[in-house]
Amino acid sequence: MVDTKALILSGGKGTRLRPITHTSAKQLVPVANKPILFYGIEAIREAGITDIGIIVGDTAGEIKTAVGDGSKFGVTTTYIQQEAPLGLAHAVKIAQDFVGKDRFIVYLGDNLIIDGIKDFVHRFEANSPDCQILLAHVPNPENFGVAELSGDRVVKLVEKPKQPKTDLALVGVYMFDESVFEATDNIKPSWRDELEITDAIQYLIEKGSDVQFQIIGGWWKDTGKLEDMLEANRMLLERLTTRIDGEVDDKCKMDGVVIVEKGAKITNCTLRGPLVIGEGATITDSYIGPFTSINYGVEIRGSEIEHSIVLENSRIVNVGGRIESSLVGKNVLIEKRAKPPRAYRFMVGDYGQIELQ
Ligand code: DAU
Repeated sequence: MVDTKALILSGGKGTRLRPITHTSAKQLVPVANKPILFYGIEAIREAGITDIGIIVGDTAGEIKTAVGDGSKFGVTTTYIQQEAPLGLAHAVKIAQDFVGKDRFIVYLGDNLIIDGIKDFVHRFEANSPDCQILLAHVPNPENFGVAELSGDRVVKLVEKPKQPKTDLALVGVYMFDESVFEATDNIKPSWRDELEITDAIQYLIEKGSDVQFQIIGGWWKDTGKLEDMLEANRMLLERLTTRIDGEVDDKCKMDGVVIVEKGAKITNCTLRGPLVIGEGATITDSYIGPFTSINYGVEIRGSEIEHSIVLENSRIVNVGGRIESSLVGKNVLIEKRAKPPRAYRFMVGDYGQIELQ
């Protein structure tokens, strides 16, 4: 019997989430206080696959520190360095030694599939096609690989077409057998100078390989952009249940699902869930509204925030007016000073965004 392996693609550049991704891998940005990549690893483990190769690029060090040998997830990890982001099919190609003759899943490290991938993997294992893709109806197919079907057959795949023929986007999980390596060896770089996985599968289709598809029922997101990140955060927070491991004083008002991690201290606040407050955070005289994830070590004082993600060790102090739909990076200070001069002072990274009223 051949085993099924997994290959997670966690290299590439996170241009749409700059400046956050100037200093961090986009796959490690947390939603509901957990890095996106971890949801993928957990979903793969849940589908019964434990031998995972991880493609890494410039942010290799950070990914390796976060995931380690995989034992905390019950998996084993093999890191495969990609010298430059030369495309998804290039990433698959350089994993050939790791994959060997096994069948495998390719999982894009920035994709989040809320109901996991168990059914998808089991179906592949049961039917043994050469390749299996996952599709989703989307309102903006021009931003994805797009599939054309005829009955139960996939007839054509095109990467980010200007005029899509259908609304069926390729979700970032694919299943292959070793025949994909013939495809990755034979395709040419696309207009964006990448070896496209979409073209590799199109090659298989043209060769007459058995390429099957499944249409996703549940929620799925490619979390490359801020709005997608906030939506993912909302979806995941909605699925949690209340747990208070930190200190919440009796002047606080709470409703909805609230998670307060150990060492966090909440004083004289209104907490309206669903929300999560990370370890060691200090929240004082503030309002934390629905769909907010506050990471560890954050301090919020005299401020209001909702529908936002705040990364570790940042400070939000005496901000008049409510902060909403925001992503605040690590170690950021946002403060309204009581003393004159009444002026705005910024130290904002490249590609930062600030909206004032
Ligand atoms: O999210 C689904 C879409 O993913 C599909 O519909 C598209 O057909 C597919 O091409 C892909 O499109 P993107 O342009 O969004 O892919 P992105 O460059 O964001 O890369 C996806 C993941 O793979 C991300 O975690 C970074 C990683 N990656 C990317 C490249 C280009 C690598 O590890 N190596 C690479 O060379």
